[in-house]
Amino acid sequence: MIKKYVYGKPFETDAVIANVECAEEKPALGEVDTKDGFLFTYTLFPKDVVYGLGEASRGINKRGYCYVSSCADEPNHTEDKRALYAAHNFIVVAGEKNFGIFVDYPAKLTFDIGYTRMDTMTVSCEEANLYLYVIEGDTPYDIVKQFRKIIGKSYIPPKFAFGFGQSRWGYRTKDDFRKVAEEHRKYNIPLDMIYMDIDYMDSFKDFTLHKENFSDFSGFVQEMKDQHVRLVPIIDAGVKVEKDYDVYEEGVKNRYFCQCEDGSDFTAAVWPGYTHFPDVLNPEARKWFGDHYKFLIDQGIEGFWNDMNEPAIFYSREGMAQLKELMKKYLEMGEERMDFFELKDAMLKVADSPKDYASFYHQTEAGRIRHDKVHNLFGYNMTRAAGEAFERIEPDKRILMFSRSSYIGMHRYGGIWTGDNKSWWSHILLELKMMPSLNMCGFLYAGADVGGFGADTTRDLVLRWTALGVFTPLFRNHSAMGTRRQECYQFENPEDFAHVVQVRYRLIPYLYSEYMKAAISDDMYFKPLAFVYPEDSFAAQVEDQLMIGNEIMIAPVYTQNALGRYVYLPEEMKFVKFMPDGTICEEVLDAGHHYVEVALNEVPLFIRKGKTIPLAQAAQSVAALDTKNLEMLGYEGAEYVLYEDDGIHKDYENPANLRTLRN
Ligand code: GLC
Repeated sequence: MIKKYVYGKPFETDAVIANVECAEEKPALGEVDTKDGFLFTYTLFPKDVVYGLGEASRGINKRGYCYVSSCADEPNHTEDKRALYAAHNFIVVAGEKNFGIFVDYPAKLTFDIGYTRMDTMTVSCEEANLYLYVIEGDTPYDIVKQFRKIIGKSYIPPKFAFGFGQSRWGYRTKDDFRKVAEEHRKYNIPLDMIYMDIDYMDSFKDFTLHKENFSDFSGFVQEMKDQHVRLVPIIDAGVKVEKDYDVYEEGVKNRYFCQCEDGSDFTAAVWPGYTHFPDVLNPEARKWFGDHYKFLIDQGIEGFWNDMNEPAIFYSREGMAQLKELMKKYLEMGEERMDFFELKDAMLKVADSPKDYASFYHQTEAGRIRHDKVHNLFGYNMTRAAGEAFERIEPDKRILMFSRSSYIGMHRYGGIWTGDNKSWWSHILLELKMMPSLNMCGFLYAGADVGGFGADTTRDLVLRWTALGVFTPLFRNHSAMGTRRQECYQFENPEDFAHVVQVRYRLIPYLYSEYMKAAISDDMYFKPLAFVYPEDSFAAQVEDQLMIGNEIMIAPVYTQNALGRYVYLPEEMKFVKFMPDGTICEEVLDAGHHYVEVALNEVPLFIRKGKTIPLAQAAQSVAALDTKNLEMLGYEGAEYVLYEDDGIHKDYENPANLRTLRN
């Protein structure tokens, strides 16, 4: 049962697309106070668990901390971070009472989930202009499914996007890309995508190509495709301010950029230097920006990643002017007397400053609106610009798209990656915990930078992380310029990496099938154990194991030097290990606690009692997979309904896509 309450004059975010009638009465659960902004208060019972919030720090159970929805370019994903790149305002309280709430409000929103007082949850924001959805159901899983129904279908990428992708900030020339492809093929490490970071562009200008490095780009795109490798370029939010650059000139001429109060185009420095932001909340400007993706699609490109779209601001003209003033003051003061920490603080605060976000405007269907009041919708609408354009440019074809920043609603247009994580063991675990929460909010095509983006990685970390990446729909190794190289072939015994990535390809028939079933029926691909075993009180406490689809459970190793790990089995399961020699070890384990050994070059998974999954032979690309001759793994006599389509078109509901396989 879903009830919608309206407070004040909400901004229409289009997060919810189903028609939900507005309720007249007050919510029966919790107290709402609108005297001073908006405040929702609920008293938590001791054993209540709180799920949701999508991309956020900490656990699957969000209880015990304070989280803020305010999309931020935040490269330090430490436990104390209250806001990351996304704003996913959906939570589910499970326990004494089961209910979910979605607060459709596009500015800063705070979820204090037992932080100020351990028994109290508050959701608050500055202005009481919002829609509050309250969803009641028997179980948290049921509540999630009801919510997913009203926000519309999750994005479905092409099938090649379930392959492995290699990325690194710093690939510049055709030869850099050729080498990545060659090395993967040389060591039999399967590969379907190589990502192009900002250096492919001419001076970081969106929808341009570096002239010397990428002459005959379409020829090069084809050369890579002939090897079953797709190039996937990045698109940044900021459009470089440069005379005679067509995107800049068109935007200025048509008033398609976000503007300051005085009507001038707002200027912010990002990678290209000074840029203007396309006003993606203005439907006309959104169409204009989206249509520019055609420049690359026409050259054979079939996928993109949208970046810096919180939007990230290194500094604005105004911010820089103020900083200069401050520095001048200090220099005049003399080194002895200056407050070094004040200066340092001022320098750090110049990026992503609330003052800048409150100094430009969008021209929306509801009139002119200041950016900070709709801040969390920028990444969503940049990706929507692309998604809507893809429908016009290639209506029958799926195009790969994922974004850094997002709001619920964007899940219909693209997936997400979880931004600039680090090569830390704790970030393997963080990814594992984020995945089911993202699924609750509609984001199914998701994954983190495998191996870690920032900081120097280690071989064992990349192997363990890759073994988790085997199961995430988006499976991409990505790292920052200046960090230790971490492509699979950079380490000793690349055959170990080849084996782990090959296991992904062996599992693609199953993983793709489960993804598609989840997307088609508004279900989750990754589930917390508690969603599958609601009667098992211990399962609700397990945060480092996940259920995938209907058949399997994963329990990745995320500790350095560990030879294995403890796992909890809510029921009897078949423990399966993909061994580096290509064989598979299978052992039936009883319900309960076990220690399982898992070497660095092995991939473990658990098949639920009475279930079976299909398995292909390893292949070097998705296109080379033989999905007609599948083996079955798991319990004998069991059946599995496989979903399979051509992976290109959108004929999802065709009954011919389903076939029953028997073990
Ligand atoms: C941002 C992105 C990262 C990318 C870098 C350079 O930090 O999050 O993935 O590599 O910008 O474009």
